[in-house]
Amino acid sequence: MKISIIGSGYVGLVTGACLAETGNEVILVDISEGRVGEINAGKCPIYEPGLQELLQKHIGSRLKATTNAQEAIFQSEIIFICVGTPQSKDGSTDMQYVISAAKSAGIAIRGRKDAPIIILKSTTPPTKIDEVVLAIENSSGKKDGEGFYFFTNPEFLREGSAVKDFQKPDRIVVGCSEGKSSEMLARLYSPFGSKMFFCSSKSAMMVKYASNSFLAAKISFANEIGNICKKLGIDSHEVANGMALDRRINRAFLDSGCGFGGSCLPKDTASLAFEAKMLGECSSMLSAVLEVNKNQPSKVIERLKTRLGSFSGKKIAVLGLAFKPGTDDIRESPGMEVAFLLHSQGAKVFAYDPKATENAKKHAPALNYCKSAKEAIEKSEAAVIMTDWKEFAEIDTEKYVLEGKRILKLKKPNYEGICW
Ligand code: UDX
Repeated sequence: MKISIIGSGYVGLVTGACLAETGNEVILVDISEGRVGEINAGKCPIYEPGLQELLQKHIGSRLKATTNAQEAIFQSEIIFICVGTPQSKDGSTDMQYVISAAKSAGIAIRGRKDAPIIILKSTTPPTKIDEVVLAIENSSGKKDGEGFYFFTNPEFLREGSAVKDFQKPDRIVVGCSEGKSSEMLARLYSPFGSKMFFCSSKSAMMVKYASNSFLAAKISFANEIGNICKKLGIDSHEVANGMALDRRINRAFLDSGCGFGGSCLPKDTASLAFEAKMLGECSSMLSAVLEVNKNQPSKVIERLKTRLGSFSGKKIAVLGLAFKPGTDDIRESPGMEVAFLLHSQGAKVFAYDPKATENAKKHAPALNYCKSAKEAIEKSEAAVIMTDWKEFAEIDTEKYVLEGKRILKLKKPNYEGICW
């Protein structure tokens, strides 16, 4: 099928590359000339395992990028909207990019006789879906269900495993209004052999918000239990292992530690809490999930202070700046938060991350960056592990090490965990 994807960021790029892999003709649209140039040169603008190979395999044949939305969209049978929906300062979702993409799509389909499918993949609050449809109708002069067919199709990709998650999803959620034929989507996604779940377009987006908020809630619950365990001298990961034997609970997302980061769990949970507030509904659980998470990095600081006393002049290694292993993304990263806090309290921070150092340098130039964990530890009197990169598992030092994320293989008297 001929597909155009508006927005070639993290989701758009992975979606485009994976749909090209299953035989579709894909045109990625982006406003950034630089990014379009990189993609057409077969250079992947983001670090995601497997994505560079897919890009190189299909670029120039089934996959290309352009800044010309009209030309790209005009020919396509399916148009994906994959632009960002950042959170505004007041907590609401900034819809400007989605609305602008919707208008571009509407203008591009104006003269067409056929009725293309327009799929909203960007994470969008259910209360804003009608606004998106209206933007397409007003700019195209056509009606949803006649001159085009609108669907929602949230993504559930995890950074660091986005290609794998797209190609082997637990489920594909498709939202549409009554009576619309989703045969084209079933055909589009059939190569992935995954369960397809059809529901209303607003329910589909709520599945995304509720799923991410629940995952965040599991982590914050694990961290609240972990903070109590730490005070009792109990290993919270041992407790989680025991809990997980109840199949209704299961072990995933019960790893206590320094808290969750990334561009999704924090934002989606906060957006849902904001929507609830706007509706006059209580969001005490969602707010508590965010509160526990916000406080977790200071638990790391408290623990370090108990051990080292004042930070002034102290040399401390911060190992791990990405919000999770397998990515170079430092958004909402607990490692960056702890590095900032230590630096602001007078410590000399020696930071290291296998992938995220370049991104970190742009945000925190005052830190000292090292080329290895070994170098950072050698230059410091203590270390804190904030991202569970596999390479940290083998660390063996006589210096004090505090684990914000569990990864160390060795058990040593000078090693301890934030919740164990
Ligand atoms: C998440 C959702 O998993 C994904 O389905 C959605 O589409 C996007 O948001 P992502 O943010 O990329 O994916 O990574 P994820 O693996 O969920 O980890 C998020 C954060 O939670 C990381 O900082 C990780 O370290 C932390 N985490 C995860 C924990 O602290 N404990 C856990 O048990 C699991």
